Amino acid sequence: MKNRFNNLTSKEWLPFQKSWFKYTDDYTLYRDNIRFFVKFDLKELPPTVFYYCSNPNNHQTIHAVAQKTKAVLYSESDLDKIDQLQFALFDLRDAFIDDISTASYMEFKNRMLALIYKIKPLLAHRRFIGIFMNQSFQQGAYYPFCWDLAKTIASTFSLKDEKIGCVDEESFTGQELPQFQTMNNMFYALYFRKDENSGSAESFSMFDYFTNNKSQPTNGKITSQFPSWFILKPPPRKKNEILHPAKYPEDLVDKYVGIFTNEGDNVFDPMSGTGSTQLQAIRMGRNGYGIELNEFFCNIANERCREQLTSVLQPKYTNQPEFRILNKDARMVTQGDFPEIDYIITSPPYWDMLNMKGAEYQARRKEKGLQLNYSEDDTDLGNIDDYQRFLDDLVPIYFSLIELLKPGKFMTIVVKNIKKKGKNYPLAWDLAERLQERVILLPESFWLQDDISIAPYGYFNTYVSNTFHHYCLSFQKPLST
Ligand SMILES: C[S@@+](CC[C@H](N)C(=O)[O-])C[C@H]1O[C@@H](n2cnc3c(N)ncnc32)[C@H](O)[C@@H]1O
Repeated sequence: MKNRFNNLTSKEWLPFQKSWFKYTDDYTLYRDNIRFFVKFDLKELPPTVFYYCSNPNNHQTIHAVAQKTKAVLYSESDLDKIDQLQFALFDLRDAFIDDISTASYMEFKNRMLALIYKIKPLLAHRRFIGIFMNQSFQQGAYYPFCWDLAKTIASTFSLKDEKIGCVDEESFTGQELPQFQTMNNMFYALYFRKDENSGSAESFSMFDYFTNNKSQPTNGKITSQFPSWFILKPPPRKKNEILHPAKYPEDLVDKYVGIFTNEGDNVFDPMSGTGSTQLQAIRMGRNGYGIELNEFFCNIANERCREQLTSVLQPKYTNQPEFRILNKDARMVTQGDFPEIDYIITSPPYWDMLNMKGAEYQARRKEKGLQLNYSEDDTDLGNIDDYQRFLDDLVPIYFSLIELLKPGKFMTIVVKNIKKKGKNYPLAWDLAERLQERVILLPESFWLQDDISIAPYGYFNTYVSNTFHHYCLSFQKPLST
């Protein structure tokens, strides 16, 4: 198969398709991106790259990469000299270190947008823009600048992909703070393409994040020691757990329940699946409550919790933990069903992705005779094929649970941004945006998967990542509404 996109061998191509990477240094970061997004032996299109680095110290590094790779570099001052570009790279990771007020962000954003609009006619068809960037947390308020900028650019270029740059935890000590804060040891690499769909997305106006953004009420127990990313190595799933197509590991629940709750607290999951949330909660001396639509999974969830409570390995607590998982539609939760909630941790169906035929995971499950989706039920959120309708149904479920959550308490939602039929639907960002109406957005963390083989999507033709990162979006209910 002829590589029409770059000059990499298949061995070099595949690792780049993983949607997260361990950041080592800027030289490697620039080099890997330029080598992936530029084809060096095209007569009709020389290896031309535009760059913008918010930190002038990095100019030297990118020039060193250009010299080594033989890329032809252009910067902002050379715009009128450019015929056509193969790739544009923006490194904005240092843009908000000194001053992150909303006004300064807006000014910076407008400057970047003006530059990106100028680049549009110069970029060759089906070629990419890559943007490296951080979010910002300041004085207890969180500013998801990356999501805002990405959604705005998506009305000009096609938003194609994202990668999470993971900076080693060792280099961050983290300072004790009263709020929930992550170590901020990650950055986003966002990828946009100029193609037939560019400019077709709805134009996007300011996120509520900036007008609405509230700082967290102080909570002495929470510290800043929470990592921005973590890799879990869950034990192989037991027979009854494999039956469920998308369970999350108990270790994930462990991390969050450990930081957001105390012994005796009530932990809740409105879409319990196999009961990972409740099982881990009772293991940790918390009560586990929840709902699951599918009767079969609901029975498995209850059975697992029952077994846990009677197991010799169940730690002994002064107050024996209890659990209750009801088989119903989460839309129908009522105040009398459960006691007041101290913490919600949950993961919704990732839209209707389980119904998408052809995905590699689906093929493997089919081979083993395993169920491919959650159910055929119309009330199952995983069976709604319209994206807006899916969000319109999901968000009110969270709103009604927030009513049951004690003021000042937390909620974590595990979710992915989704690529469907070549289009990117930023489900995590959209959910965060809508939920901001009732709860305070906190810095996200990523659960990274490292045990799945990479599928060669877009192989030798264009860039399509394998999404191995899940957003863990955390929110806090304000003390008063
Ligand atoms: C991503 S899975 C959750 C998996 C779970 N965290 C675990 O570890 O097993 C989503 C779950 O939502 C359930 N679900 C879908 N629509 C629902 C609804 N309307 N009410 C309650 N549960 C629903 C599905 O049956 C599925 O088990």
